[in-house]
Amino acid sequence: MKYMITTIRISLTALLFVLCLGWTNVHAADVGKGEALFKQHCSSCHAPDRKIVGPALKGTKAKYADDPTWIYKWIKNNTALIKAGDKKAVAVYEANGKAAMTVFTFLTDPEIDDVLAYVEDYKPKVAIAAAPTSGETTNPLDDPQIYYSLLGLVGLLIGVAVMLVFAAAGLAASVRAKDESRDLSADDVWQTFKNFLSNKFVTTCIVATVVVGGTIQLISAARGVSLHQGFMPEQPIKFDHKLHAGINQVNCQYCHSGASKSKNAWIPSTNVCMNCHKAIEEGPTYGKGEISKIYMSAKWNPIADKYFADNTPIDTVAAVFKKWLADEAGIKYPKKIKNVESAYAAAKAIGFNKAVEWIRIHNLPDHAYFNHAQHIAVGGNDKDGKVIECQTCHGPIQEMEVVYQHAPLSMGWCINCHRESKTTYSFPDPKDAKKSMTPTPEQMGGLDCAKCHY
Ligand code: HEC
Ligand code: HEC
Ligand code: HEC
Ligand code: HEC
Ligand code: HEC
Ligand code: HEC
Repeated sequence: MKYMITTIRISLTALLFVLCLGWTNVHAADVGKGEALFKQHCSSCHAPDRKIVGPALKGTKAKYADDPTWIYKWIKNNTALIKAGDKKAVAVYEANGKAAMTVFTFLTDPEIDDVLAYVEDYKPKVAIAAAPTSGETTNPLDDPQIYYSLLGLVGLLIGVAVMLVFAAAGLAASVRAKDESRDLSADDVWQTFKNFLSNKFVTTCIVATVVVGGTIQLISAARGVSLHQGFMPEQPIKFDHKLHAGINQVNCQYCHSGASKSKNAWIPSTNVCMNCHKAIEEGPTYGKGEISKIYMSAKWNPIADKYFADNTPIDTVAAVFKKWLADEAGIKYPKKIKNVESAYAAAKAIGFNKAVEWIRIHNLPDHAYFNHAQHIAVGGNDKDGKVIECQTCHGPIQEMEVVYQHAPLSMGWCINCHRESKTTYSFPDPKDAKKSMTPTPEQMGGLDCAKCHY
């Protein structure tokens, strides 16, 4: 009998343990991550359940079930597939009026899985707090959904655990009844169940399962916080790095002049733009449209070729801008301003004599400290012995029409580089005094918590 109870205890513990592990593998956190990714990258063109620019995405995984890897290839680089004449790709492309889908070469397969899991999991919500439309990053912990689902899971787990205890009590009672050669009564089961529940060991097991499971869930949710690799918001002015830093070879530090002397790299004010844009009044893609926003912010009068006075009435400004936008004389590129009123409205939205409200892309949490000058001016070397360039951390910015966050900016990412790269210092090698060695940032204390944390 004692042996039986022990067996049941052990199997109960094992079951709770397995349940606890299983729980951590539940896809809940990933759906959350998928949702964040979807909102960042896909929601401008897709909804799970209806067509926007692209088709509804619910069911697409099943649609391509015969060739499961195709969907990854498509999402990563649909253009390449279409160019290569892939039958499925060309079919979708033509079915959607040859509308273009962005390429997402930076998304990994697991991230795509998360997005697709979110899409399949999607249920239309009844007025939950307004979705962030401002292009601000979504912080998964700000999302009340996480807490609700966590609460739900805890409830579910307690329920399952209690049921398991009940089942075990039933078994134990029936074994005892058999041992004592009498019929099993419901009272008997109930009594055993109550005994089990008042047993410290069993309660500890249940509490431990819930606490451990809950903590693991919370940690995995928290780890997603503030990691926004791939974040690519639409900016108030369609500033194009490829055109400026790539094609026209403007030096990064011409605009981001803080990088070599301060903590922040700085985003240039429109006064810096005006150094060139007093003369460059139109661009190849948007004509005068986007550049008119610079003028609005810098209070530039493009007809008089001088700055407006600060207190110029907005009606005067409007008249000048509309006249200039409508004027096609001397235009180098094909006319792009189809609707002067809406072009003016877009410029006005920037604000006369106001700083442009660029959306910040790279943003470490407040508790972490990163300093550009420490990395740029000092000119540390990366693991291949090359000087650290902006691109080492920010990716091929000079090829980006729209900037996105290239690196994860996670703690592990910083630490890895501090282990691998070299500083610019040189010391006598402790092993052989005739030689000199260059320490890694790690050897210079670059892994000390206090160097990066306030
Ligand atoms: C700029 C708009 C745009 C964005 C952003 C976009 N898509 Fe698309 N997507 C489309 C269009 C348009 C199509 C239809 C095919 C075409 O015309 O190229 C499509 C097709 C698809 C298809 C195939 C659907 C089918 O029924 O066969 C999938 C899957 C897909 N997109 C996934 C994604 C995911 C995931 C993201 C975000 C990571 C995303 N898309 C972002 C525009 C977009
Ligand atoms: C002509 C001015 C100019 C030049 C040249 C320029 N940038 Fe920028 N950069 C901007 C502006 C304006 C923004 C803000 C809008 C945006 O994100 O596109 C920006 C944004 C960025 C951001 C994102 C900032 C954030 O919010 O996290 C990075 C990173 C960046 N630039 C790096 C570079 C690098 C690297 C180069 C050189 C290859 C470069 N820039 C050249 C003007 C410039
Ligand atoms: C060093 C010179 C220089 C600076 C500084 C500069 N630009 Fe430009 N910009 C150019 C050149 C060159 C073009 C392309 C003109 C062309 O191709 O005819 C251009 C074009 C543009 C266009 C038109 C894009 C299109 O395709 O229609 C926009 C918008 C623009 N710049 C925004 C900005 C903003 C915002 C800033 C300040 C953050 C800025 N530029 C700073 C040189 C500069
Ligand atoms: C060692 C990695 C690294 C290098 C190299 C680097 N950056 Fe950054 N950059 C970061 C990180 C991390 C952030 C986010 C900082 C924060 O949120 O405090 C950032 C943020 C930025 C920003 C937006 C916020 C700001 O600081 O004003 C700009 C713009 C930027 N970097 C431009 C540049 C340019 C231009 C270069 C090259 C001259 C460069 N970065 C080199 C890691 C790097
Ligand atoms: C591309 C490699 C690389 C990445 C990525 C990188 N660092 Fe560094 N970091 C260096 C190098 C090299 C040095 C040493 C520079 C020198 O003194 O020669 C350094 C130095 C530092 C220092 C000064 C350490 C000291 O001993 O004084 C701090 C603080 C720092 N990094 C923070 C960060 C943070 C925070 C991140 C992530 C957001 C980061 N770094 C990412 C290469 C990197
Ligand atoms: C080279 C820089 C660097 C060093 C050294 C460093 N951290 Fe971090 N740490 C970071 C950055 C950057 C983040 C923010 C990552 C993010 O956005 O989640 C971070 C995040 C964290 C977090 C928040 C949890 C998380 O994963 O986001 C904790 C806790 C933390 N660090 C503790 C430590 C401790 C303890 C040490 C010393 C053993 C340490 N860090 C050393 C850069 C560093």
